[in-house]
Order: sequence, then structure tokens, then C-alpha cells
Amino acid sequence: MGGRYPHMLLILILLHGANAAIDAPVEKWQTLDGRPPLVIARGGFSGLFPESSKFAYEFAMTASLPGVVLECDLQLSSDGVGFCRSGLTLDKSTLIAEMYPKKDKTYKLGSEDIHGWFAVDFTSDELINNVTVIQTIFSRPSTFDAIMGMYTLDDMAGLHPQQIWVNVEFDGFYRDHNLDIEDYLLKLPKDYPIAYISSPDISFLKSIGGKLKGRAKLILRCLADNVTETSVKKSYGEILKDLKSVKAFASGIMVPRNYVWPVNNNLYLLPPTSLVKDAHALGLEVHVGSFANDILTSYNYSYDPAAEYLQFINNPDFTVDGLMTDFPPTASGAVACLAHNEANALASSKLWREATHYNAQWRKWRVRRLHGPCLPTSSERWCRHNRLLGSDVKRRCGLLPGLCRSHCQHDGSNHFHDKSCYHQ
Ligand SMILES: *[C@@H]1O[C@H](CO)[C@@H](O)[C@H](O)[C@H]1NC(C)=O
Ligand SMILES: *[C@@H]1O[C@H](CO)[C@@H](O)[C@H](O)[C@H]1NC(C)=O
Ligand SMILES: *[C@@H]1O[C@H](CO)[C@@H](O)[C@H](O)[C@H]1NC(C)=O
Repeated sequence: MGGRYPHMLLILILLHGANAAIDAPVEKWQTLDGRPPLVIARGGFSGLFPESSKFAYEFAMTASLPGVVLECDLQLSSDGVGFCRSGLTLDKSTLIAEMYPKKDKTYKLGSEDIHGWFAVDFTSDELINNVTVIQTIFSRPSTFDAIMGMYTLDDMAGLHPQQIWVNVEFDGFYRDHNLDIEDYLLKLPKDYPIAYISSPDISFLKSIGGKLKGRAKLILRCLADNVTETSVKKSYGEILKDLKSVKAFASGIMVPRNYVWPVNNNLYLLPPTSLVKDAHALGLEVHVGSFANDILTSYNYSYDPAAEYLQFINNPDFTVDGLMTDFPPTASGAVACLAHNEANALASSKLWREATHYNAQWRKWRVRRLHGPCLPTSSERWCRHNRLLGSDVKRRCGLLPGLCRSHCQHDGSNHFHDKSCYHQ
């Protein structure tokens, strides 16, 4: 591995993952069920690897908490095979346009015309063997572009994650092309650990809900609060004003961050909404996404991604039930090491004693690294610790911009102290 992908070792060294025993009793979490919040890896470790690829899913599992939930945005090929890939078209996140330059199409999605390359026009054989995936966010490493084929849901289930989250965004589009996502999901092998199925489409959730017989939890995926849901013709903001009606067809909701912690026009945090408490009072789970280390969402976090996770899980009033993230190792660190810091039973020696590792080098590194970040009393101290790790911050940031955010502090005037951390 070190030979073919020289950056890999460095990447391993930078991951602040935590294979902790998450079932250990910890200070009370204010999630719906009292258990630690879930870390949901959006397309795997998509902050580093092309989303929903073999490496993205494998590394999400090895560098995160053992209970990490692997998320798959489901698409179907013309022969009805399920692939994991976000969006509706394939040309932004794969090299399909180079391979099949003449197979682009324009289709209607609602009243909108969408142009691109669509999974429904390709066989699974074509997608698996001839289409490679790439990183879609250009500031993220391109090191792993064009070396992996598209990954199916079956491939991902073959990695044996504890739980899988399937997101279904465009059920109606597939039905227009004579492909039935509901049927596909209902026919999946019973031993696939599909724990959650989410969709922004209420009619899809209601329809599949009657047939799943409780095999997976259904989650209403709320888009921006001014976007209109197509089947009930109300905005997601309005729909959430009546949480009881949501409870009738879903076990929970997945919302953008600002539904819980809104920000003002200058990106400073406002007081939290009552959404999490209201939803919990009705027995609804609240998951929040999508977090990423390399997206600035509020200055209150001082560019420290760990501080942002803690805002949602370690405040006096509530803990959200799941964090969906492109950087599952960082979210894992926040849950297992930093939340409830002093009393966190997951911290310190127990963590690494129970951890599993691939090799001695990895193990040696973990002992040294996790002993540090799991003991601090504040996220500031954790960041300071991380900063001590490398003298060549700049080189490492060039490779992994997202993971370096915590090196930088906001100086109160919307400027960074250390610009070298941000060149992208
Ligand atoms: C894959 O690409 C190769 C080379 O262009 C071609 O010969 C082959 O037929 C393609 N396979 C599929 C399944 O499209
Ligand atoms: C929703 O709000 C955002 C930002 O406030 C705005 O950019 C967007 O145009 C709005 N969308 C609709 C459908 O009104
Ligand atoms: C965010 O930072 C601003 C400016 O320092 C402060 O006034 C505000 O109270 C902070 N918000 C929260 C929720 O901590």
C-alpha cells in the first residue's frame, strides 16, 4: 500500500479515529434512547476518498467508532442493480463522460430539465467495469481519483458494517424509467443490516412504511426550510411545525444544521431552536447533516470541526441522535474522546486496549495519538495537541485540507491566524 499510494501512510497517521467500546456506560447522553449519538459516514470517508467508493467505505470503518453507520445514496442501473452515489447524474463524480461521450441525455425531473449521464441508461456491467469514480470537491485530495470502479450496495454490505443507512432521493425519477426502488429495497437479503431508510419524499416513506414491517427506521430527510416537498406541497420548514404528522410515517428526521443551531447573516450562532427537544418529546429521532471539516458554517467554532460536533452533542439541553459527516474519524473523536470529557468512560486506556488494529505500526501510533486526544479537558487542548504533531503543517494541509482546520484559530475579526492552513 505504501508503495502504490505513498500518501496512504501519512493519511493513516493523520486520522484521528477511535475504535472505542461505544457500549461502555458513559455520562448520560440526551439522545432519544440515551445511547451515544451515531456517526453516519456520508458515502463513507468522503472527505478524503471519492464518495461511496471501496476505500471511502473501508476507511470509514477502520478509522471510526465500531458502530459507524455507512450511508449510501441509492441509484439503480438499467438492469436494476443498486449503486451508491449521490445526486441524480453521474458525470460530476465519475469519469463516465470520457468513457461514454455520446450517452448523455436530458430528462425531466419535475418541471426541470436535467442534462447529464444517468445510471438508468447503463447496465451494471458497464458501471462496475468501465466507470471510475473521482473526488467531487476540488479542494479535497485527488490522489484516489480514477482508480476505483463504482461500488454497489451489495459490495458495501459485503464489508459487514454494523448498520447501513440508505438514502432515496429520486424514487419518482426511477419509476418514470420503469425501475422500482421500493421493490429493490424490499427484496434485499434479510441479513443486510439496513437500519435506516431516509428520503425527502413523504409519499415514498408512506408507501414503503406499510411494507417494511419495521425492518428499518424511516427518516424524513428535510431539505432547506424554504424548499417545497413534492407530495404534500408544503415547505420542509412548515412540515416540521407539525411534528406529530411526521411521527405518523417516520421514526425520525434528518435536518441541516441550521434547523438546530441557526446562524445570523455574519455566520455567528444564534440560540438553538427547540426542534431536538420537541422531536424527542414525541419520540422522534433527530439526525443532523452534513458535517464536513472543510466547510465553514459558523465563526463560533473557531475553525475547529470538533467544536462544531460538540455543539450538537455536548450541550446542557440536548444531544442529537446522529451526526452525518464526510469525516467520520473526526466525529468519532468528538463522540468518544471529547464529549463529557473528564467523565467520558470511553477515554484513556480502555480505548486503546479494546481497539483493533491492522498492524503493529498502526497500533503504536494509536497508543501515542489516542492517549493524547482522549484525555484533554477541552477541545482547545485537543487542538493544541494535534498542532504539536507536525512541523510541516502546510504540506499536510495541502494533502488533507479538511483535517487541518483545527490548526487554525479565528482571531475575532473573521481572519485566520495561520493562513497556511487554508490554501486550497
Ligand atoms: C468497457 O470498455 C472497453 C474498452 O473501451 C470495451 O471494449 C468494453 O466493451 C466495455 N465494457 C462494457 C461492459 O461496456
Ligand atoms: C431559499 O433560501 C436561500 C437562502 O436563504 C435562497 O438562496 C434560495 O433561493 C431560496 N430558495 C427558494 C426555493 O426560495
Ligand atoms: C457566537 O459568538 C457570538 C460572538 O462571539 C456570541 O455573541 C454568541 O453568543 C455565540 N453564540 C453561541 C450560541 O454561543
